Amino acid sequence: MSLSVLDAIAARRSIRKYTEEPVDVQQLETLLAAALQSPSACNDQPWHFTVVQSRKFMDDVSAEASKISGRDLGDVFYAAPLAIFISYVADSHWGFLDSGIAVQNIALAATGLGLGSVILGFPEYAFKGPRGSFFEEQLGFPPGHRFAVAIAIGHPARSKPAHEQKSGLVSYLV
Ligand SMILES: Cc1cc2nc3c(=O)[nH]c(=O)nc-3n(C[C@H](O)[C@H](O)[C@H](O)COP(=O)(O)O)c2cc1C
Repeated sequence: MSLSVLDAIAARRSIRKYTEEPVDVQQLETLLAAALQSPSACNDQPWHFTVVQSRKFMDDVSAEASKISGRDLGDVFYAAPLAIFISYVADSHWGFLDSGIAVQNIALAATGLGLGSVILGFPEYAFKGPRGSFFEEQLGFPPGHRFAVAIAIGHPARSKPAHEQKSGLVSYLV
């Protein structure tokens, strides 16, 4: 990885435009290694990662997400060449949080590799509708798993300033 952890934290942005260049196999392996090294409550590792490179599947999820949400969400993957879906053991108390930690590990690893990414909640709509179990099956979610979050990854086609930070978000008790 080329950037220090602090540099990667500072440089990460949600990227919503990608070039057509694919994420190569070595990069993908690095991203998955970062995901699998994430901490989890009681080391349960209650997650499953599904790598998606099928544009057809991503378009299907996007269309369904718009349908179920009742608004036009467009391509919720922003034409990224790759998405990783994270599912977790539905009755795991910390599984959703653990999945959030894992997705941030992926995002920071992507930044470290010079890739862009955006964490995605919108695909969740597709799992809420009547075709939810079809999507779960296509993605190979293990039995009893539920969608947590996804992340789109690719080579960034544009840069972005850091988000503005709200004030008053830190307190001290000494
Ligand atoms: C749990 C979560 C879900 C998100 N879902 C989406 C999404 O579905 N679509 C999207 O464009 N951005 C999504 N984002 C990205 C946020 O909009 C983004 O992190 C925020 O605006 C701050 O910008 P930054 O990531 O560039 O700092 C999501 C972020 C998180 C943490």
